[in-house]
Amino acid sequence: MGNIFDTHAHYDDRAFDEDRYELIDKLFEGEVCGIVNQGTTVETSKFSLELAHKYDNMYAAAGIHPECADENSMEQLNVIRELCRDPKVVAVGEIGLDYYYDVPKELQRRVFEAQLRLAEELSLPVVIHDREAHGDVLDYIKKYRPKGIVHCFSGSREMAMEVVRLGMYIGMGGVITFKNARKSVEVIEAVPIESLVLETDCPYLAPVPYRGKRNDSSMIRFCAERIAEIKGMDTEELLRITAQNARRVYQLNV
Ligand code: NI
Repeated sequence: MGNIFDTHAHYDDRAFDEDRYELIDKLFEGEVCGIVNQGTTVETSKFSLELAHKYDNMYAAAGIHPECADENSMEQLNVIRELCRDPKVVAVGEIGLDYYYDVPKELQRRVFEAQLRLAEELSLPVVIHDREAHGDVLDYIKKYRPKGIVHCFSGSREMAMEVVRLGMYIGMGGVITFKNARKSVEVIEAVPIESLVLETDCPYLAPVPYRGKRNDSSMIRFCAERIAEIKGMDTEELLRITAQNARRVYQLNV
């Protein structure tokens, strides 16, 4: 088994309907040692848990994504709470703020805050989605001091250092291989390797040379190669350390 740990995937996505199980079998037979499939709604959280029950090295996060927040979300958190009692649910995620979409900010904040409290209540880490909402996300992290990951990190170097100082991990994926990734490169340069985890966000954000294609966990290798280059370290060593970090943040004793 290899050392690719994908801390953030969406294998429930329609893009995998044709070959989902064959693909996941192949990944675990290859270099992938762990995957955490993220929930975005009650439905996909349940599906994530089904996948987690099917594969030893697959885990689930349960939560409501800011893009999916609506007037039913607060009530649906009771179902999320129940799902979180399953030992294969390792985080509340993905949750957060997305000011790019027109879901009302006030609603997003209410649903995010309720899930930060839920994670606190259940002693689970969180997986945070932050798109064009850096200031507010940082304020909530300071207020609730959750453990967990800021996934697909898109903030500044300064924000990254603050997130790390607050004890959270920086999630990095395909974007680091893009030509215009200057900001991500600065973040990677600044963040200590011990605070970094790798992810796909698949089916989206495939790294170069597969940019625009369907992403999967095996492609993390291309991100690892680029990050290793920036850090001036060996790719295998980087994969080993980041997989260890993933197990630490998700509290897996494997
Ligand atoms: Ni995601």
